Amino acid sequence: MGTRDAKEARLLGAGAEIELTIDGENVKATEGRSLYDVLSGIGKIIPAMCYHYTFTPFGSCGMCLVTVEGKKAPVRSCTASAQPGMVVQTETPELKEAQKKALIKHLSTHPLDCPVCDADGHCELQDFTFQFGIGEVPNVKQKGIPEDTRSKVLDFNMNRCIVCGQCINVCKEVQLIDALTFMKKDGNTIVTAKEDKPLHCEFCGDCLAVCPVGAITNKFSKYLYKPWQMKKVQTTCPYCGDGCQIQVETKDNRIVRVTSKLTWKSKWGDRASTAKGHGGICGRGRFGFQMVNSPDRLKLPLVRKDGALAETPWLDAQDYVAERLTRIKMDHGGSAIAGLISARCTNEDIYLFQKLMRIGLGTNRIDSTARYGQMNVVAALRKAFGADRIRMMNNAEQVTRADAIFIVGSDITETHPVFNIRVKEALRKYKAKVIVADPITTPMAKVATHHLAIKVGSEAALIQGLVKLILDRGECDATVLQKYPAAVEALKQATAAITPESVAEKTGIPVERLAEAAEILSHAERGVILFEDGITKRAGGYENVLNLVDLALVCGFFEKDGSGLNGLCEENNELGAVDMGGSFEFLPGGIEYGKAEAREKFAKAWREELPAGMGTDLAGILEAARTGEIKALYIVGENPIGTLPASMGAAEALEKLELLIVQDPFLTETGRKAHVVLPATTYAEKEGTFTSMEGKVQPVRAALEPIGESKPDWEIFSELSWRMGFPLEYGSAKEIHREIAKTVPGYFTTKPEPLPVDLAGYLNNGYAPETAARYAAKPSNGSPEYPYTLVLGQIIYHSGKYSTRAEGLMEIYDKARLQVSPADAESLGLSEKDSVLLKSPVGRVEVGIDIQPRLPAGLVFFPEHFNTPAVKDLIAPEIDPVTRVIYHKRGPVAIERVAAPAGAAQPGGAP
Ligand code: SF4
Ligand code: SF4
Ligand code: SF4
Ligand code: FES
Repeated sequence: MGTRDAKEARLLGAGAEIELTIDGENVKATEGRSLYDVLSGIGKIIPAMCYHYTFTPFGSCGMCLVTVEGKKAPVRSCTASAQPGMVVQTETPELKEAQKKALIKHLSTHPLDCPVCDADGHCELQDFTFQFGIGEVPNVKQKGIPEDTRSKVLDFNMNRCIVCGQCINVCKEVQLIDALTFMKKDGNTIVTAKEDKPLHCEFCGDCLAVCPVGAITNKFSKYLYKPWQMKKVQTTCPYCGDGCQIQVETKDNRIVRVTSKLTWKSKWGDRASTAKGHGGICGRGRFGFQMVNSPDRLKLPLVRKDGALAETPWLDAQDYVAERLTRIKMDHGGSAIAGLISARCTNEDIYLFQKLMRIGLGTNRIDSTARYGQMNVVAALRKAFGADRIRMMNNAEQVTRADAIFIVGSDITETHPVFNIRVKEALRKYKAKVIVADPITTPMAKVATHHLAIKVGSEAALIQGLVKLILDRGECDATVLQKYPAAVEALKQATAAITPESVAEKTGIPVERLAEAAEILSHAERGVILFEDGITKRAGGYENVLNLVDLALVCGFFEKDGSGLNGLCEENNELGAVDMGGSFEFLPGGIEYGKAEAREKFAKAWREELPAGMGTDLAGILEAARTGEIKALYIVGENPIGTLPASMGAAEALEKLELLIVQDPFLTETGRKAHVVLPATTYAEKEGTFTSMEGKVQPVRAALEPIGESKPDWEIFSELSWRMGFPLEYGSAKEIHREIAKTVPGYFTTKPEPLPVDLAGYLNNGYAPETAARYAAKPSNGSPEYPYTLVLGQIIYHSGKYSTRAEGLMEIYDKARLQVSPADAESLGLSEKDSVLLKSPVGRVEVGIDIQPRLPAGLVFFPEHFNTPAVKDLIAPEIDPVTRVIYHKRGPVAIERVAAPAGAAQPGGAP
């Protein structure tokens, strides 16, 4: 254990219960615990400028002074530890005088440029100066340090720095990044990025948040505000399934900045129990707000006239949509109409959309973006668990408290930056064993206790192999053996042909390391599996999730408290999209649409018949549009042309439609093909709820008036229904939510109930043949003509394509380059800034490269957020035969070096 760990462990107080006297009162505490923690724990809040309970006290500011009997001088309570029999005083005139002196010392080198400081009004130094009544400071000496503006996001004004170390500590201990350091420069101690380079890090902004003065400032909102001038609204981040709570701060109907619970004001808490989270947010949550006020926002409806989209008043656009939809329904029936909605919309939007489609337009041809992968999790876990609504089995706190965490198919730092902090906290504070199975050396793999750098594409072999090893080693959970003997026997049969050596050969992981992983997982008392797109968004995704059910089963994760199997959601409301009935196979609440009695129940509640047909998924909708069977498509917040590979034929299919309605805050590639484009608000201008991947139903609150004449999605649906003669009458999103709360279990409260897991139905009905077939399936061997695997994935600074509208995030990262491993770069004779011709069975594209040491040979990666060059068009999409998920994130490619610099893309060209 290192010195810092030892200090941290001591301050956590692992010792016996002791008694000490504080201001004459007898107080119980744990021996060794930070004295400051003991004081704040009994409500004695004394000044402290370098203290925060989430990281080790630094002890530099000299403010948290107390007297301890027997000590001559006052003691810094943050770094002192509680001892039995201690007699402590916290409020004496001498202490006040000593604190005032410490304060004056800080002020004597501080510039006092409050009028131009962003922290003015939110500054701990300012507050204490006022509190201690300091009017004059003798011997003032300015530091005269030039501002460091080299970072793309944060400016460092070290004249204002009080050397409290909190920025460095939060980065090192909470984020486990360690990007900042103190450095002596020209006689001053300053904070700088390591090696005094321009700061390039994850840009979470936690350092900015905890800085008690204005020494670190946000480039995007500098000089734009005084804290008291802004309207502040707490809402839910619109980017990923973590569902972080953010505070949107606005001035003159513009977002000026986004903050969170983490500030120097959130310094008091229980150091020994940090599993509830530190309240920080990630870079896209903090700096990705500019898309709301983007000049590209649509402000009026657009209707196609004489071949071109033209701004049109709402009343005319609504009449046009209502008349055309009514005509198509009358001429061809409701099944000639289809709908697609984004899982970024609110629950209220999605609920009303499916209701409009089903009872208003008479069609069950509806789908959502959950079809891009989440449907594999839903289908597999519904089958295994016998539950209607699927969510994570474990909440963030349970994940933090787990003793073993297995992360597979998830670059969790890039996709879920704040949930990733919970895993890092499990590592740091709760000493969990974290096993990352990934061919890529992900940021989490770097800090994990175990990284299984598996061969590209061998996730299924690894999971099945671990099941086999656990069974062979006699480590299958005892309760499972007793409860489900036939299922365990079926697994033994299904895995009979697997040997440890064959698993090692397929995965590239030596047998001993596989055995070690099997042992850690099967012996865990609180074991957690986290998985994501590397499992769900690739061919065989549905079976992959069932493989993980097997692994969780033999490890006993369905039997032990605090253990479980958890799919992470990329988009902010993927759970809500399914819960609200935003797909053809489910009614709200995850009730199967195919059940006549379920349809009858909803028909009664909604006072309208529901269409009888089983409906159509997204791939089917595109196919039916191509053949002319579907005449009208209503797309809300999604952009299939921009998302799917060209060979999926979305553009050609949409061109065949008689009516394409696109509702979106922006004019997308799909919108450009539309007959009507309706301007929708973003999350920041509407009310409603999102459901996080943990299953928390969280409020979305309007922070701004709608931009231009944009309207919330639900309002557009409601108005359209009036015009079409079947009024879906709601005065507010709250009214819709009240109806949802009556229909969908779990939406009445914001506190998610644990996911009910009943495996008996699955394990006792056809499990043996199902596992036999699944374990016997052979993965495709690939083609020697296309020896590399192209993966389209997410990077930490972006979320889908939504975030590329935020100039701040584009400032941080706009590299539409193919990431290549050093080994491949060498074998192909490539150097940084070279371009390559990337070829696949369905196209070829020229693209610049970026050599990335984190990648293994044979795998190339492209950030999915960018469509230029059109690398996405190189993937030949596949449709899952069970779940109809469209796989379009990975495929085989060949790479050739090109001599000339990268030019234009050639999407869909001949191979
Ligand atoms: S922004 Fe985050 S990662 Fe970067 S230095 Fe600050 S705390 Fe560290
Ligand atoms: S920059 Fe802010 S948080 Fe960092 S040491 Fe200076 S005052 Fe403290
Ligand atoms: S982790 Fe996800 S929800 Fe949280 S701030 Fe970042 S993008 Fe938003
Ligand atoms: S809070 Fe203890 S020295 Fe700063």
